[in-house]
Amino acid sequence: MPQGYLSSIEEVAAAREDLGREGRKLVLTNGAFDLLHVGHVRYLREAAALGDCLVVAINGDDSVRELKGEGRPVNGVEDRAEMLCALEFVDRVVVFEDRRATGVIEAIQPHIYTKGGDYTADSLIDEEKALLDRLGIQIEILSLVPGKSTSETLKQMSVGKDAVKKVAVLGSGKGSNAEAMMRASAEGRLGGEVALILTDVPDAGILDHAEAFGVPGIVIDPGTTKKGRLTDAAIKEILDRLQAASIDIVVLAGFMRIVREPLLSAFEGRILNVHPSLLPKYPGLRAVERAIEAGDSVAGCSVHLIDSGMDTGEILRQEEVPVESGDTPEVLQARINDAEHRAYPEVVAELLAAL
Ligand code: GAR
Repeated sequence: MPQGYLSSIEEVAAAREDLGREGRKLVLTNGAFDLLHVGHVRYLREAAALGDCLVVAINGDDSVRELKGEGRPVNGVEDRAEMLCALEFVDRVVVFEDRRATGVIEAIQPHIYTKGGDYTADSLIDEEKALLDRLGIQIEILSLVPGKSTSETLKQMSVGKDAVKKVAVLGSGKGSNAEAMMRASAEGRLGGEVALILTDVPDAGILDHAEAFGVPGIVIDPGTTKKGRLTDAAIKEILDRLQAASIDIVVLAGFMRIVREPLLSAFEGRILNVHPSLLPKYPGLRAVERAIEAGDSVAGCSVHLIDSGMDTGEILRQEEVPVESGDTPEVLQARINDAEHRAYPEVVAELLAAL
């Protein structure tokens, strides 16, 4: 255990006992706190006001790197502890090495545990929630200060400005658009690289394409069997993965789950989707079948920004394809896919160039 400004978990656990006997309350929170900003200060002041002794558990340097990506933490564990201890409302700082805070919560058994507001009580991981409930620990979710985050601060400082721009592709299916995107990246046509593939389907073809191009492919548990839905915890995990990989643009390609807050705000204007129709015609499911059923002579694809509606965001590009007589949905889908593979990487390249 490093010395200096850090307390040991045993010291804090003993302090908790003393406080409990005096009818006073220990508040615990945790995080990386690797670049202290006013959002942290306000959050910690609010947390401290909930009880009588505020303990901040900070991730060790290795787990910050694992959670937030290369180049993090900006400050090492001793420096982070020193800065936090300089805040008058922080009483103790401890370090823990796991990705998750479950171990440190169990060891300290605080009276109150607080999290920042991109979490809801439901988005705490099940294991953490179960532990907190079992130990009768009060959970408080505190609101974060909009625009005051470490990633926002780093962006404003233009750290990594000259670095390669990074794209993540989210898909649930065969992954032909992801493949087109990775091919464009490999051939230098994207102006950035596909750095991450995420899917909600463990055996989706998109993972094979990821492997073929040597791009990390990760399966996200949607957390629910409800069609098209993601739990708050799943949304949080996606956001964590995107931020840990320093993703600039999120590309949806046949991702059959609804993407919503806080993901939309975190990547505002930087989440794209491709849809197999000339929007606003045929949003939602069965777009290709509906074009055939309606007897349309022209179909196509639309690349658009994602908003909170169903395929309603600003349209950035449309490509038309003919509907031939006798087309089956499969044949027309394949023609639309070809158009998508041409158009989608070009739109992503334009957006990356404008960042
Ligand atoms: C694409 O045709 C895309 O337009 C469609 O899923 C297919 C994915 O193919 N997206 C939607 O229907 C979204 N509403 P892929 O897995 O081969 O890229």
